[in-house]
Amino acid sequence: MKEKWFVPYKYRMVEKISIPLKEERVEILKKGGYNMFHIKAKDVYIDLLTDSGTGTMSNIQWSKIIMGDESYAGSRSFFEIKDIVEELTGIPFVIPVHQGRAAEKVLNTVMIKESQFVPGNTHFDTTKGHIESSGGRAIDLTIDESADSAIYHPFKGNIDLDKLKAFVEEHKRENIAYILLTITCNSGGGQPVSLENIEETHKIAKANGIPLFFDAARFAENAYFIKQRENKYKTWTIKEIVKKMFSLVEGFTMSSKKDAIVPMGGLIGIRSEQLFNDLATPTILNEGYLTYGGMSGMVMGALAQGLHEVTEFDYLHYRIGQVKMLGDVLKEAGIPIVEPIGGHAVFLDGRKFYPNIPEDEFPAQYLTAALYEAGGVRPVEVGANLVGRDPDTGENIRPKLDLCRLAIPRRTYSYEHMMYTAETIKEVFKNAHKIKHGLKIDIEGSGLRHFSTTFKLVNSKKKSLL
Ligand code: F0G
Repeated sequence: MKEKWFVPYKYRMVEKISIPLKEERVEILKKGGYNMFHIKAKDVYIDLLTDSGTGTMSNIQWSKIIMGDESYAGSRSFFEIKDIVEELTGIPFVIPVHQGRAAEKVLNTVMIKESQFVPGNTHFDTTKGHIESSGGRAIDLTIDESADSAIYHPFKGNIDLDKLKAFVEEHKRENIAYILLTITCNSGGGQPVSLENIEETHKIAKANGIPLFFDAARFAENAYFIKQRENKYKTWTIKEIVKKMFSLVEGFTMSSKKDAIVPMGGLIGIRSEQLFNDLATPTILNEGYLTYGGMSGMVMGALAQGLHEVTEFDYLHYRIGQVKMLGDVLKEAGIPIVEPIGGHAVFLDGRKFYPNIPEDEFPAQYLTAALYEAGGVRPVEVGANLVGRDPDTGENIRPKLDLCRLAIPRRTYSYEHMMYTAETIKEVFKNAHKIKHGLKIDIEGSGLRHFSTTFKLVNSKKKSLL
C-alpha cells in the first residue's frame, strides 16, 4: 500500500472553458432567477453543481466505449458488469438501468405497499420522492451529530441504532418495506457509514425479517473512509472492505454516474432470485430488456471498467485528498464548513456564512449565487429550497442544515482550479457578515422545486450580491 499522496494519472485531452465578465454574470444570475440550474454551462467557469456524470473517463474506459457490444440480448458488455459486481459484492443478480433514480423507481414499485415506511440515514431527494410516489414514507434516523456542522464524528452518516430499534418495535415488520443505508450519505454532507454501524443495522434488520438495502452511489468512497477511520479495517484492501459491506445487505440501487465514473448509468443488485424475477417486468416496461436496461453496450463496458478503477486505493486516496485539500484551505480561512469534510464535496454552512440573513431568506441559496457572481463558480444549494414542503401539511420544511455544496467531479479539475475556487469563496466571505437580506421566492416550481423555483433579491435596490 502506498500512503504517499500523488496524482495517479496525467491528462491527454482537454476541454476549453472560459469565464463571462462580472457585469455579464450579474445579469445572468438575475435572468436565471438566482437558480443555478438556469445558468448555461457555457457561462460557468468551475462547475461544482454535481459530481454526477461529470467525471473524466480513463483511456481504458474509452477503449471499452469502442469495444461496446450493442446486442439487444446477452450483450458481452452486460456480462462485464455482472462479473465485476459479483466479484466486488458477492451479489449474483444485477439489473442495468439508465440512472440511479430509475433503479429507485423499479425497486420501490415492487418493494413498497401503501403506507409502508422506509427508515434509513438521510435519503437522497429522488430516493425520498420515489418512496413517496410508491405510497411509502422515508424516515430519517441519522445520528443527532449529523445536524451540527461543527461537531467532529468520523461516521456522521451512521443511522441511530436505538432510534431504529424503537421505530421497528413501534411500527412492526409489516409496516416497514425495507431499511435503506445511503453510502456515503450525500444529503448529510457526503458522510460515511461505519462497518460497525452497517453490521448492527444488519442484525436489527435480520432479527425482524426486514430486508436491508444500500443506496450505493458512492460505495467506494465509503469504503475508503472505513479503511482510514475504523481501526479494525486499517490493513484491509478497499476490495475486501467493499465485499464485507455488501455481504450484509439483500441488495442495492446505484447511480453509476458517481463512483462508476460514467456519464450515464445505474444498477440494481439483488441477492434473491424471487425478487429479481419480480423486478423483471417493471424493468422491461420502464427501462429496457434485462441485459441493457436503458444503457448502451458502450456505456456498460465503461461502467464495468469504472468499477475496477474506483476500488483502487491510489485513485481514492487522491480523490478524497483533493476534496479534503479544498476543505482544509477554507477551514484555515475561518469559513464555516461541514466537518469532517465529506467524500465527494465540501459543504458550506449557509446560516453561519451569512449570520445576518434571516433563515427564511434562503442563506445557502444566496451563497450559491454570490459565488457565481464573484468567480463564475457554480455550486448548488442543499438546504431550505431543496427539501421543499411537507407532503402532509404543505408547510415549508426547515432543514437541520442549510448548505451550499461544492461537489468535485472525479479526475476533472486541477489543483489550480481548486485554489481559484478557494480564493473566490474567501473573497465572498470577507463581506458576508454585512449582508442582511437574502432571497425571496418569485415563482415556486411544483414538485421538486429545487430545479425550477426562481428568486428575487429581498433588497431589490441591490445590484451586486457581494
Ligand atoms: N442516490 C444518491 C445518494 C444520489 O446522490 C443520487 C444523485 C441519486 C441517488 C440519484 O441518482 O442522478 O443517477 O438518478 N445525486 C446527484 C447529485 C444528482 O448531484 O448529488 P441519479
